Amino acid sequence: MNSEYRTLKAIPVSREVGAEISGVDIAAGISDEQFSELKQAFSDYGVIFLRDQDITPDQHIEFARRWGEINVNRFFQPVETHPQIAEVRKEPHQKANIGAAWHTDHSYDQIPAMGSILYAREVPELGGDTLFSSMYAACDALSDGMKKMLLGMRAEHSSRHVFGEQAYVDKDVEDVGGRLGNTGAATQDAIHPVIIRHPLSGRSALYVNGDFTVKFEGWTKAESQPLLDFLYQHASQNEFTCRFQWQKGSMAIWDNRATHHYAMNDYQGELRLMHRITIQGEALGAAD
Ligand code: SIN
Repeated sequence: MNSEYRTLKAIPVSREVGAEISGVDIAAGISDEQFSELKQAFSDYGVIFLRDQDITPDQHIEFARRWGEINVNRFFQPVETHPQIAEVRKEPHQKANIGAAWHTDHSYDQIPAMGSILYAREVPELGGDTLFSSMYAACDALSDGMKKMLLGMRAEHSSRHVFGEQAYVDKDVEDVGGRLGNTGAATQDAIHPVIIRHPLSGRSALYVNGDFTVKFEGWTKAESQPLLDFLYQHASQNEFTCRFQWQKGSMAIWDNRATHHYAMNDYQGELRLMHRITIQGEALGAAD
């Protein structure tokens, strides 16, 4: 994490993950040089945070397209006028939020999302922070024995149990209030290495998550769950994390292959409205 930048400043917010970036104004325009430094910072820190961005949905989309092809989320309510943008909304009367468990986005796709660009339109007075955890740090801290076993393994991921019809049996449909839907599209299943070679950095990263990983390939669910539970607990320990406090106009750009995130649900009675664009990634190979 020691790149030199010429057009921006990056201040790390924790030892393992995350940096606040200054000197970038998306609405005013970003040069190719500055964009390539932003990408370098994204690779260096796993998640980067920008403050005081005053952008329209069109500018959000234009900025996102510089990172890659937009991968439209199938299940979140889209912004009515801009279907490329997913709404992450919680109204004052709603109890549940979206994303209140450690996860990474879209791992149920065989070609999972590279990253997500989340922009704060309305934030509560206090609370509603997002936590990030480094999957590089989680991987590095495993014992040699555990790493050796996991390096030969793959895991199955799915959208069915989270966004499919069956998932709604356990949800308060009134409270969901149209924020999630399209249950018929929840048919994705994917298999990924448990420890991936990160396509940008070349580093080894742990790639299982509590929302979408179902089991290890060739193992039963009952056999898989205890080890998965250990890995989730291991991956979310405080030492690997950072916490971002949002303001209106803040933006987080995170790497879904290098981090997990967790949206705090501690602002009952207040509105929080975020716009999220997800960027297409590539198939993931195993570390060796
Ligand atoms: C998400 O899980 O993508 C949403 C994160 C957040 O709202 O902070």
